[in-house]
Amino acid sequence: MRGIVLAGGLGTRLDPITRIINKHLLPVYDKPMIYYPIQTLVNAGIEDIMIVTGGRNAGDFLRLLGNGREFGLKHLDYTYQEGEGGIAEALDLARHFARGGHLCVILGDNIIERDVRKSVDAFRQGGAGAKILVKRVPDPGRYGVPHIEHGRIVRIDEKPSEPASNFAVTGIYMYDSTVFDRIARLERSSRGELEITDVNNSYIDDGLMEWEELNGWWIDAGTVDGLLRASTFVARTGANMASAPRS
Ligand code: DAU
Repeated sequence: MRGIVLAGGLGTRLDPITRIINKHLLPVYDKPMIYYPIQTLVNAGIEDIMIVTGGRNAGDFLRLLGNGREFGLKHLDYTYQEGEGGIAEALDLARHFARGGHLCVILGDNIIERDVRKSVDAFRQGGAGAKILVKRVPDPGRYGVPHIEHGRIVRIDEKPSEPASNFAVTGIYMYDSTVFDRIARLERSSRGELEITDVNNSYIDDGLMEWEELNGWWIDAGTVDGLLRASTFVARTGANMASAPRS
């Protein structure tokens, strides 16, 4: 199974902090933000990882991460997204890297306390088309929100004004190889993006979506408030970095 960290986009929600520095290079407590999602994949037993970067300082990712030695990796792959056409557009850039296998995708601003190894292993060993991890939150309207009926997700709404549940869809997604055909069939949303929620809804429509509730805390560090909370939570509990990075 291969892993992809999506760190494209321009991070305009954090302006002016992100006017010069890419969001994923900002500090979260004592490490750059992107260290956390990479470590989440490594902790899940994934060694083949591609970073999708974008924006003005893509070269800094290479300088910072190199071949991933700090994470115990032998090699890292990189690709570049022009503009910010959406999470699904960024994922599409990993089509060749995926080599027709299962993928675990994580958003570059998602930071978690524990590890997702059990969920990833279960999907690796014969999961259906896709799997998402959800988390109960006080403000679901800021995220993708699952509509759950009789234990099944029947639809996901992106940032709904009237959320159908108290859950957020976290930015950790597992997909089979059909994900790229599904992206190819997407139409741009009203904000001009290829939406990951539309990809997920296509699996749901085909009855091929599994889900689990994520253990431990989860933070989307892509807002000023989220960035502050992430640093505070990591300072208190250490997040999922306990086993790395090695120097
Ligand atoms: O954090 C979880 C949420 O992430 C989900 O609940 C939502 O369903 C999902 O749409 C997403 O919402 P956000 O509004 O938080 O997405 P954002 O635009 O902040 O992008 C999140 C990450 O995705 C970002 O840190 C880098 C990557 N990305 C995003 C865009 C728009 C790219 O690589 N390329 C892009 O063009």
